[in-house]
Amino acid sequence: MKTLCVLGLGYIGLPTASLFATHGHRVTGVDVNRKVVDIINAGQIHIEEPGLFTLAQAAVGSGNLRASTTPETADVYIICVPTPLTDENYCDLSYVEDATHSIIPLLKKGDLIILESTSPPGTCRDFIAPRLKEAGWKVGTDIHLAHCPERVLPGQILRELIQNARIIGGITPESARMTKELYDGIVEGPVYLTDCTTAELAKIMENTYRDVNIALSNELGAICEAIDISAWDVIELANKHPRVNLHLPGPGVGGHCISVDPWFLVSAFPGETTLINMARTINDTQPEMVSERVIDILREAKIDDPCVALFGVSYKGNVDDTRESPAFGIIEKLSKRVDLRIFDPHVKNGTGFELSNLEEAISNADLLLLVTDHSDFKYLAPEELGKKMRNRILFDTRNFLDLARYREAGFEVHVKGVGD
Ligand SMILES: NC(=O)c1ccc[n+]([C@@H]2O[C@H](COP(=O)([O-])OP(=O)(O)OC[C@H]3O[C@@H](n4cnc5c(N)ncnc54)[C@H](O)[C@@H]3O)[C@@H](O)[C@H]2O)c1
Repeated sequence: MKTLCVLGLGYIGLPTASLFATHGHRVTGVDVNRKVVDIINAGQIHIEEPGLFTLAQAAVGSGNLRASTTPETADVYIICVPTPLTDENYCDLSYVEDATHSIIPLLKKGDLIILESTSPPGTCRDFIAPRLKEAGWKVGTDIHLAHCPERVLPGQILRELIQNARIIGGITPESARMTKELYDGIVEGPVYLTDCTTAELAKIMENTYRDVNIALSNELGAICEAIDISAWDVIELANKHPRVNLHLPGPGVGGHCISVDPWFLVSAFPGETTLINMARTINDTQPEMVSERVIDILREAKIDDPCVALFGVSYKGNVDDTRESPAFGIIEKLSKRVDLRIFDPHVKNGTGFELSNLEEAISNADLLLLVTDHSDFKYLAPEELGKKMRNRILFDTRNFLDLARYREAGFEVHVKGVGD
């Protein structure tokens, strides 16, 4: 069993630290946010993720996980800090840099540093390794370094952390081997070894592939709206082909990964990323398209002083994560033109907008705008919602609700990617 120091106790770091701790390793979880550290040491958690409360509680309760605001000496350092975008759409590596500098004084010969944060190709080789060399270490012999990107799906992080296939890219084959040995203790999926730059680019291409694919479906959605057919029907049929896997249209792409990572390539390789750049632009314009369609629907219905109940702020269903959510673009545009009430049962605060409860949001609303596919919304009875609304109009941007039931309850139903 090893001593581990996990830097960053967010959506990735806390489950990772907890999992290693419950597998017998002694883990110091480090976060620069004192509030996060206090919450975890009190046996609580600061984020919403199914199963995490129980796992983190077990980890802290066992004495194997302790949170701290400063790193402590360990055999292995796992970096799980944010890698957001700068204003110019470059990857902001300042958190990775801070984390690296915070552990340099603690390093001893034979230690292993693992970067889990999603990072542009070359981060281990050209960004972290030079800083370790500057501190006097021979990287790959004295200090080992590897990239082990996270591929988990929020809402299913614990299951996927264990069951997903992992890629491990070492600065040397020995660094990769050491990392595999550690992860083999917690991971059930296959583990593939490569060099660190290949691993970094593989992770980013996974998200870029999905972003480009979603952009394609959003474009298909626009075509279908223009010719009054359903993109959802087209996709279902096209995907019967054994080598076709079209993704789904929607209100835009959000989250900390798919809407962010492709920019790492666009900013670093502007001459080589025409398609990737275009896909990003298409997906980023979806919130505006949703807003314009809402205005068109309300105009067609001749509604004065319209009131819209927007359901869902988080970027995907059943999570509280609002990072890069397309809901923000929709809210920004619509709040200038309609009386907008915003409801999200998973999101408590921190959105910068006033949130309503269900009753406040739906009372006297003219249009229900479904932005996020939270399961909770499926359980709402359209008849009951309709009774509270001034007009019964639904615009489902995800083709998620039971539309037949809404129609039966007298709703005029609009769906993104489907012509009216
Ligand atoms: N959330 C996901 O589903 C997901 C999936 C795959 C990959 N990733 C990647 O994993 C990385 C972490 O993402 P996340 O969602 O866990 O972020 P997060 O914002 O939830 O958590 C990061 C934590 O790191 C802390 N932190 C910042 N600088 C620090 C430092 N120098 N030392 C210690 N702690 C520090 C922050 O206070 C924060 O609590 C990112 O690169 C992200 O792209 C995330």
